[in-house]
Amino acid sequence: MTYKRLTLPLFLIQEQRRLGGTGVFTALMTDLCTTCKTISNEVNRGAMAGTMGYAGSRNVQGEDQKELDVLANDIFLYMTDQGGNWAGMVSEELEDVHVSVESDGRYLLLFDPLDGSSNIDVNIAVGSIFSILRLPEGMTPSKEAAFLQPGVRQVAAGYTLYGSSTMMVFTSGHGVNGFTLDHNIGVFVLTHPNIRIPDVGSEYAINSSRRRFWDEPTRRYVDECAEGKTGPRGRDFSMRWVGSMAAEVHRILLKGGTFLYPTDSENIAKGGKLRLLYEANPMAFVVEQAGGMATNGRQRIMEIEPKRLHERTGVILGSKSEVERVSQYYQQCDAEPPAVAV
Ligand code: AHG
Ligand code: MN
Ligand code: MN
Repeated sequence: MTYKRLTLPLFLIQEQRRLGGTGVFTALMTDLCTTCKTISNEVNRGAMAGTMGYAGSRNVQGEDQKELDVLANDIFLYMTDQGGNWAGMVSEELEDVHVSVESDGRYLLLFDPLDGSSNIDVNIAVGSIFSILRLPEGMTPSKEAAFLQPGVRQVAAGYTLYGSSTMMVFTSGHGVNGFTLDHNIGVFVLTHPNIRIPDVGSEYAINSSRRRFWDEPTRRYVDECAEGKTGPRGRDFSMRWVGSMAAEVHRILLKGGTFLYPTDSENIAKGGKLRLLYEANPMAFVVEQAGGMATNGRQRIMEIEPKRLHERTGVILGSKSEVERVSQYYQQCDAEPPAVAV
């Protein structure tokens, strides 16, 4: 047979047969596909969709919402709720837990409907990030407590990147697969099977304008990379910063390297910048499943016990050897006795 393109719906059905299942997870993932295809369409239409600019509202975290943040959230909510395949959900754009009107199912859906939305007006890649948890036995999906599970308990997680092409990348704990949207047939097709992060990467991604706030280990790592061939690393690095975590993680997944959004002296009061449940945990799951590592510097991201829905954390993820190096710098820094004033 010469025709061998595997579509995402067929991939999901094959996985369901292989691993056994009732079909609810497959149906939930199918709803997510439709959701992301719809958002992709809105993003691609750009200014023609009339969704540029600010919505004039703020989300629970005090951030100004873009028109497309609000629309993407509505699309997520409406499309996945109609399917009746989750019992409760949490979104970056909604303060409280939302309970399904259609289902008393056993899955919980957590998502960032539009990641990197500051890029939307300038035609740079944005994404959607999602995480799926099980509703713990005996818990009600209307209560925050049901969602406060560490990332190691994720059933599946991933992102859709609305870039020069639209790609959905996800894991259900059996490796990472990437699917590209074929606009002609309106279906995601498997184009990147079994993604593995190269262990040696030559790129790092960090918002360097925050340098004055950085802690010692971050500063040391970035400085050593920037010193290139003539520094302790003995080779040259490149720095990239898109401002969309989904785009950044995707690049690192395919090319290797490090993404850093650490806690620093300016964001520490909030716990960091990126949200644990629907940004850090899903990306950590994908990265670990691809052979990489994800830490806040001192703790594996997926082992953090969340205390709040919109909790934030420092994030350092990417190629294993690089992230191990940053973790070592944190350990060394913590082990140093505090300087004694003379
Ligand atoms: P969101 O658009 O969902 O609020 O997320 C933006 C996040 C993340 O995608 C990105 O890595 C980071 O914020 C960009 O931060 P800077 O503004 O510091 O560049
Ligand atoms: Mn985001
Ligand atoms: Mn967002």
